[in-house]
Amino acid sequence: MATVVAVLASARKKGWTQQLFERACNGAQKIQGVEVETVNLHDYEISSCKACFTCIRSEDHICTQKDDMGGKGRLFNKVKKANGIILADPVFLWGSSALTHLFLERMYPFIWSGGINGMPFGSISCASNSGFQYQASQDIAKQVFNFGLRYLGAVPVHASYFDQGLKEAEKLGEKMAMAALKDQQEGRQTVTDREKFRIYSQPWNVFRSYMESLTNGSMKFEDSMPQRALKNGVFQREEALAVLEKANEKIREAFELVKRQEYEKAHDVLSDGSALWTEATWREFLELKVIGVKKPKAYRPIDDLF
Ligand SMILES: Cc1cc2nc3c(=O)[nH]c(=O)nc-3n(C[C@H](O)[C@H](O)[C@H](O)COP(=O)(O)O)c2cc1C
Repeated sequence: MATVVAVLASARKKGWTQQLFERACNGAQKIQGVEVETVNLHDYEISSCKACFTCIRSEDHICTQKDDMGGKGRLFNKVKKANGIILADPVFLWGSSALTHLFLERMYPFIWSGGINGMPFGSISCASNSGFQYQASQDIAKQVFNFGLRYLGAVPVHASYFDQGLKEAEKLGEKMAMAALKDQQEGRQTVTDREKFRIYSQPWNVFRSYMESLTNGSMKFEDSMPQRALKNGVFQREEALAVLEKANEKIREAFELVKRQEYEKAHDVLSDGSALWTEATWREFLELKVIGVKKPKAYRPIDDLF
């Protein structure tokens, strides 16, 4: 049997989010060979990450906290063994809820182990007041991007079109079940960095968001962090500088491709540039001063980029 872990982040037992969650579970259960394991985050103890970085340093990439998302925690291990995850979240303060953020934050060890890379994932965000369900869905996409989850999409719902939301939640459940079945029967298909830039482009525009981050919103190459760092001679370590220069070249190329409206190629090139930028900052800032080890191989490998 394939297992879909369905996660509910609302404490309201018969609320809007709970109803959508149930419909998604029903959708998944329609598919033979799939079992749905339900979880309400409010029944679990999840502390915030303490940034001790043991999960990066240790070979098994395990969190040492003793709660339900630690290495031996019952929720962490459910996630680890799943063939797919659906998350249903109420919209709080125009974004995803704090408990969802906490849950996803504590999945940090999976970045370093690569343990859930390729696992199917989908989310539902439900609002009933001013809205912002779309942005809440984007929040979740952004938070799970680095795990390499195979993103199946999001269902942003508002009470004002709840019936349509229920139907879409059910469809997401079905889609998830099919993907989970494939995961179980054919084995995990991992997601490459370049693929991530494509599969996360809806509802969260990862390309635009990454460009904004690089330039603090100006969207001008001259303002991009690698370009500024090179100009200002900020990087000191030789092994970091070499990667920074390569990152800068790629990012310059991505900006040029956008000008020429070659968006598909620009996605790939920016993905490469961002992996190099991650490596360069790791070597300059993290390796000696914060973490004490080289970047684990599972996370954004750059071997093919030189
Ligand atoms: C702290 C808090 C913040 C909220 N923020 C929003 C919001 O930004 N937009 C909105 O439409 N509803 C907001 N709501 C309402 C919830 O989204 C509402 O609970 C939602 O419909 C989810 O359904 P449920 O609580 O029945 O699961 C908020 C509720 C709480 C408790």
